Amino acid sequence: MNDLPDQDFSTLADQLQTRFLGKPLHFFDTIDSTNTYAARLAREGASEGTAVIADSQSGGKGRLGRSWISPPGVNLYLSAILRPPVPTATVPQLNLLAAVAVADTIVQVCDLTPAIKWPNDVLVGGKKVCGILAEMQTETGTLRAVVLGIGVNLNAPLDAFPEELHEKASSLFLAGGRLVERSAFTVALLTHLEKLYVLWLEGGFSTLRPAWEHHAAWMMGQQITVAAPDGTVAGTVLGLDSDGALLLREGDSGTPRRLLAGDVTVVGGYTHGVRS
Ligand code: BTN
Repeated sequence: MNDLPDQDFSTLADQLQTRFLGKPLHFFDTIDSTNTYAARLAREGASEGTAVIADSQSGGKGRLGRSWISPPGVNLYLSAILRPPVPTATVPQLNLLAAVAVADTIVQVCDLTPAIKWPNDVLVGGKKVCGILAEMQTETGTLRAVVLGIGVNLNAPLDAFPEELHEKASSLFLAGGRLVERSAFTVALLTHLEKLYVLWLEGGFSTLRPAWEHHAAWMMGQQITVAAPDGTVAGTVLGLDSDGALLLREGDSGTPRRLLAGDVTVVGGYTHGVRS
């Protein structure tokens, strides 16, 4: 991808107009995991907004103990330190917030139609292009920091992914046929993220809900199965509860089931447009 003018993110800091997010920004050519490094900075007292970006990760971390494929020169691997004064139970909402920020950025920068798969996978054309990993730091039950890790497959070619992921994972380049400028995408993402975060701090999940539902509209009414921490659940998506939990109708049962975490599979496959 040497034809990309911003291979080293060198112009990013100059372009960034945020108030606090991405300030300061730590860049690495390669690192084990931006989340691990940001977690260390957070424990050492780094201020809210501090962010870490790497060109590649040797031990990129995904959800549920999985790894995150992190080749050099093509994608975005970003972790931001947040210190919201909220109860720990509210932290999962940051996953939904980050997914909305990524989806808004994809619309703005790439002119593609993203879809959010609850809670926070961002898909284009039915394939995952972004993963989000929010990790908490607490002290005697009080939230000290959240490391919000975001990986976006911007320009990865198909052979960057192992064959078993070819039907499931993609990049914005593969989906839209155009290379994505990494620093422009990152600046737009940090800007959306800061705006949504400030609104959320002031007004809670309701500030986020319409945008999340807009990007996830395809999920409503779908039959899904969810691999949840306490077993697999199947049902029809009813929508989100007031705190972002997923509401499912299991069979004919009256009371909806509330899910706070899990891996969703859409029964009968996924259909969603590629271009807006
Ligand atoms: C998922 O499994 O969907 C979450 C993937 C999160 C990957 C990002 S890349 C930047 C940050 N650093 C990591 O090690 N993981 C997150």
